[in-house]
Amino acid sequence: MSWIENAWYVAAWDKEVDRAPLARTICGRPVVLYRKLDGGVVAMRDACPHRLLPLSMGMREGDSLRCLYHGLKLGPDGVAEEMPLKSDPVNRSVCAETFTVVEKYRFVWIWIGDKAAADPALIPDLWPCAATGWAFEGDYYPVRCDYRLLIDNLMDLTHETHVHVGSIGQPELLETPIDTRVEGDKVFVTRWMTGVDAPPFWRGALKKDGPVDRWQICEFLLPSAVIIDVGVAPVGAGASIERHDQGVRGFVIDVMTPENEGSTHYFWGMARNFATEDAGFGARFKTQQGGVFMEDVAVLEAQQRSIAANPHLKLRAYSIDEGGVRARQIIERKRREQVHAA
Ligand code: FES
Ligand SMILES: [Fe+2]
Repeated sequence: MSWIENAWYVAAWDKEVDRAPLARTICGRPVVLYRKLDGGVVAMRDACPHRLLPLSMGMREGDSLRCLYHGLKLGPDGVAEEMPLKSDPVNRSVCAETFTVVEKYRFVWIWIGDKAAADPALIPDLWPCAATGWAFEGDYYPVRCDYRLLIDNLMDLTHETHVHVGSIGQPELLETPIDTRVEGDKVFVTRWMTGVDAPPFWRGALKKDGPVDRWQICEFLLPSAVIIDVGVAPVGAGASIERHDQGVRGFVIDVMTPENEGSTHYFWGMARNFATEDAGFGARFKTQQGGVFMEDVAVLEAQQRSIAANPHLKLRAYSIDEGGVRARQIIERKRREQVHAA
């Protein structure tokens, strides 16, 4: 497989998981998710221990789940509570595999590997999603491509000029040199544009005319997240690579969870430190961002189909691809370490 097993992956937005069972395949494992009465999230393998009907088709009863087919009832710990034939004694060795879940940054995170290693401290640091003075909104797209193609895409924003012309693309993106650096398990790609015209979105957010400094700092985080520090500040306001809260600033949040090889759950959003009380702005922005990311989805799915149709051809990396290349190297190194340790 192409992913790291011992890691936290986003299974769902917190708002997606409710009392009704939600089916989602995470890293090749069919999983059913639902909330208990106390709000806690249950995640178990979406296959009845009896005849393997997906449990997500079943009925929730209190905190338990009853299979639709023959009525086997499982508790939130996955263990049988009632056999199909009520007169049969309950066999507590009948159980569905459960997964460790943690809610953080508005997401439900799932640990798919060795349970003993599930340390919540290893959840990727998406601090802008939960910091005071910041608002966070987003959504979910299923994408029929390898999750690493999304990482490549997000670590190389030169594509904005062509793919997102009219919203966030501008020619200066291709004219400004980029800096790529690796720090431990993280990769940063920095682009700093001075004295440029703000593209339409940022002009509207800044609510000021005149040239701006614009930045994009992409950060890759294991196992498969990219957060992008973006924004503009009026020229002369003193914004620098180290400190740039002088204008309007946001973090594009992208968390990619492999569904299977070649398909990905894409959780995306934007955390912003402007118009934070304006729910209408947040909703309108989410719609805009959804439109921009849909342009990426069209490109990525076509790219995946082309890769499959041309198996004798290789992906080539130019200078713009260094961020994605480095991120893939880190994933691969970690993946091998875990395979060898197992
Ligand atoms: S398949 Fe679930 S009870 Fe038979
Ligand atoms: Fe894009």
